[in-house]
Amino acid sequence: MTVLASQPNLSDLQAVPRHVAIIMDGNGRWATLRGKPRTMGHRAGVEAVRRTVEAVAEIGIEYLTLYGFSTENWKRPESEVSDLMGLLRLFIKRELATLHKNGVRIRIIGDRARFDDDICELLLNAEERTKGNSRLNLTIALSYGARAEITDAMRQIARSVAAGEIRPEAIDEDMIASHLETAGMPDPDLLIRTSGEQRISNFLLWQSAYTEFVFDQVLWPDFGREHLEKAIENFAGRERRFGAVI
Ligand code: IPE
Ligand code: IPE
Ligand code: MG
Repeated sequence: MTVLASQPNLSDLQAVPRHVAIIMDGNGRWATLRGKPRTMGHRAGVEAVRRTVEAVAEIGIEYLTLYGFSTENWKRPESEVSDLMGLLRLFIKRELATLHKNGVRIRIIGDRARFDDDICELLLNAEERTKGNSRLNLTIALSYGARAEITDAMRQIARSVAAGEIRPEAIDEDMIASHLETAGMPDPDLLIRTSGEQRISNFLLWQSAYTEFVFDQVLWPDFGREHLEKAIENFAGRERRFGAVI
């Protein structure tokens, strides 16, 4: 990944979203269309991740959250899951140094207990090594499910109530948000889903209460800077009301 010094026109737009989240969908269909095994689609999808992180950094977006693997994706055939794990290993090993050099802070959200020990170690190391960076906050959702995340937060809060540390009346939205894995991060302004599906598939349910959604037909391996720019332009033309009268 190379990050160019010159800033594109898009950064002049006032309405560049601070936080973009992406449901990277369509790898399997991309491969099938080409008569290739699904894993080739995932491989091509990794290239799209690289391009996207680079473009996002250049545009000056502060937070990028990518949905890489859902809790429900564990239900896929073992061979596909194992191919995806292999690609995850490869991505971290190959990209970490460049991401770090370019000021990217990496965070992982999701149930990492389900990953093999070596992957857990790679993920921890990536977070540890990049924790001082602030140019782009890259969060990768792996083995992530929003319902599991919210359930876990509820469990933590219930424990504090049971221990007499907090009163039920003290539970408010800020307290719940602070128990989610995204604690401290702004909510996504823009959520993009590729491949034409128009659903959230258990991604950032709490955090996307007022997020703007853009659905693009493009299959994730074909996603590039032009699709990102088009989504941002679309976002810039929207009127966000947050329930108020403007
Ligand atoms: C997204 O592509 C990648 C993951 C969910 C891991 P898919 O694998 O869901 O591709 P389609 O939706 O079957 O085309
Ligand atoms: C959502 O895509 C999960 C990721 C992109 C990682 P899926 O392909 O798993 O979602 P569904 O099954 O179409 O809802
Ligand atoms: Mg899919």
